[in-house]
Amino acid sequence: MLIFTWLVFSAVAAGQVAELVSKCLQARDMAYCPYSRFPVGAAILTSGGTIITGCNVENASYGLTVCAERTAIQRAVAEGHRSFTAIAVTCDIKDSFVGPCGACRQVLMEFGSEWDVYLTKPDGSYKKTSLKELLPLAFSPAHLRADMVVKL
Ligand code: THU
Repeated sequence: MLIFTWLVFSAVAAGQVAELVSKCLQARDMAYCPYSRFPVGAAILTSGGTIITGCNVENASYGLTVCAERTAIQRAVAEGHRSFTAIAVTCDIKDSFVGPCGACRQVLMEFGSEWDVYLTKPDGSYKKTSLKELLPLAFSPAHLRADMVVKL
């Protein structure tokens, strides 16, 4: 029974990963990146099984650019989601697996450390890592709790 349960759940998870990866590749095609010409796509999986995508959106005032991962999470929150299990991210680099930038890692951490992260190449191959691995010793909302702070 245990093995059966494991097989069923892992099969569902594998299907979800395939969909997540495929959606992040589609999202990359929507990138607005006339300045860098570096399209990025992201797809976030909510605990409820919904997938929300994002792409990078650049601006003539370069610093206002928003990364694909943050576009996705802001969309997700605006649509009522706050609990997430995984994110897939892709760009046009073929020869190596590329991780989210530091700012995006911190923004993901706002919504928990238990994220699986799928670094996806343009051909759909991926490397699974985790947010904990990408952002060790992170600053998180828990550190702002009153009992964590020494009052002087
Ligand atoms: N970019 C992302 O969308 N996500 C990242 O994690 C790193 C960088 C975007 C921002 C900019 O539009 C382009 O890639 C080049 O930096």
